[in-house]
Amino acid sequence: QAGLKTKKIGQRIEYLEQCASTQIVAHQLAQEGAPDGTAVISELQTEGRGRLMRKWDSAKGQGIWMSIILRPELPPHKSPQFTLVAAVAIVRAIQSVTGLDASIKWPNDILFGTKKATGILTELQSDADGIQALIIGIGVNVNQEREDFDAEVQDIATSLRLESGQPVNRRKLVQEILHCLEIYTDMYIEEGFAPLKELWEGHSATIGKAVRARMSRETLEGIAEGITEDGVLQLRTADGKVHGIYSADIELK
Ligand code: BTN
Repeated sequence: QAGLKTKKIGQRIEYLEQCASTQIVAHQLAQEGAPDGTAVISELQTEGRGRLMRKWDSAKGQGIWMSIILRPELPPHKSPQFTLVAAVAIVRAIQSVTGLDASIKWPNDILFGTKKATGILTELQSDADGIQALIIGIGVNVNQEREDFDAEVQDIATSLRLESGQPVNRRKLVQEILHCLEIYTDMYIEEGFAPLKELWEGHSATIGKAVRARMSRETLEGIAEGITEDGVLQLRTADGKVHGIYSADIELK
C-alpha cells in the first residue's frame, strides 16, 4: 500500500498468492461487510472468469487480477455505468504509467488495435433490500510474452509489455488504477455520467465505426453512433433506424 494516493479505494487490500477467482473472494468479503473500496488482488487465479461465462486466462505473476468492492449510494439503474467509468479509469492509468494509448471497445474491453489487453467484469451483489455492493473485476495483461497466452487467445490477446517493448511495474500500475478509479467514480457520483460519457467516447474504438453486434436473438450491423446517458450503445442500421444495444458482443468491421 506504500505510495497509494487514494482515500477510499484500496485502503483495504486482500492480497492472495492464489485463489479460484478474485470475484468469488470479493463476493464473500462483501457479504461479510467489507467496506467500500476494498480490493482483492491475486497473483494467480485457477478459475478466472470473463463476461458471458467465458474463462479468463490469468497466468501467475504476469497480470493484474483484481476485484474491487464498491458501495455507492446510487439507485440501481445507475450501476451499469460503473463498468464504463472503470474502463476510462484503466485507460488513463495505463497511459500515465506506460505512455501507451489504449482504446475502449464497447462496453469495456481495452484494446491495442484489435487485440485485447484488459477485461472488466461488473457483478452486483443484491438481497431483498436492494443492491448491497458492486464487484468490479479487472484483469490486465501486463507482462505476458506471446507464448504465455493460451493457444486459443494468442491471436486476439496482447499485453502491455508486448505493446511497449518493456516490462511494466505491476505495483505502480495497480496504485495508479486504484487512484484513477477513485477520481472517476467520485466524478460520476458527484457530477453524473455526462463528463464521463465524453471521456469514454474520446477513448472509444467503437464510436463512428462500422460494427457487427451479436446478441442472443439477433445480429445487427451498422454504424455505432454513440452511447446514451445510460451507457446504451446506439447503432444505426442501413435502413436509418437507430437501435439501443444493452448487451452484445461487438465486432469491429
Ligand atoms: C472479460 O473481458 O470478459 C472480463 C474479464 C475479467 C477478468 C477479471 S480478472 C480479476 C477478476 N476475477 C475474475 O475471475 N475475473 C475478473
